[in-house]
Amino acid sequence: MNLILMGLPGAGKGTQAEKINETYHIPHISTGDMFRLAIKEGTELGRKAKAYMDQGDLVPDDVTVGIVKERLSKDDCRNGFLLDGFPRTVAQAEALESILTDMGKSLDYVVRVDVPEDHLVERLTGRRICPTCGTTYHVIYNPPEQEGICDRDGSKLIQREDDQADTVKNRLDVNMKQTKPLLNFYSEKGYLVTIDGDQDIDQVFQAIQSAIKQ
Ligand code: AP5
Ligand code: ZN
Repeated sequence: MNLILMGLPGAGKGTQAEKINETYHIPHISTGDMFRLAIKEGTELGRKAKAYMDQGDLVPDDVTVGIVKERLSKDDCRNGFLLDGFPRTVAQAEALESILTDMGKSLDYVVRVDVPEDHLVERLTGRRICPTCGTTYHVIYNPPEQEGICDRDGSKLIQREDDQADTVKNRLDVNMKQTKPLLNFYSEKGYLVTIDGDQDIDQVFQAIQSAIKQ
């Protein structure tokens, strides 16, 4: 299955992507995670992306499309993929279409997780992540068993740099501007399914599973 997971920052894309990956065994391709890894490793890509990400702005399309193209050509994408956080602009969506056409592939669904804007700030500022295994928690909605400690490996949880309140606002503004034309793009092509993301994590996952069975 070839899927795209769309949603504003904090809508729960990463959280649902983990579940989709466990159930459908398709690789989870998150452009945000790829950029964060590149920053951590100090690569050229990381240097290019960091300034944009720190401000909550989008990384330029040519850089982003380049890394996705390379990732989709890997062997593990042969039987499907799950794109999380890409495409985020119509230009990226058009580029993806031509990449897939060249590979003889097409999309099955674009799953949009919809959450009212006023809930997103709280989700983002309360998010904590494990620097070792990448698991995502929330201080209220999805807390670890022991405060501040990863359930899986005991690491001390951290906050993402772009989850500080001042950056969150710009991220939401920037992404909201891009969302509408992107939704129109995929709705016209008939790929779009919209899921109510304002329910608990397992209910959102059930709704996704029913939508992609149809
Ligand atoms: P990226 O890493 O993709 O971040 P994002 O889109 O801002 O999305 P998030 O990861 O913040 O949120 P999410 O939807 O995954 O939510 P999560 O599941 O964690 O991008 C970061 C940056 O990289 C961008 O700003 C940009 O600079 C750059 N970038 C990336 N892709 C790009 C592209 N294509 N083009 C250009 N630039 C790009 O959940 C959030 C919190 O809520 C968690 O704490 C979670 O536990 C909690 N939660 C989840 N679901 C629920 C629920 N149902 N109920 C209650 N709480 C919930
Ligand atoms: Zn961990």
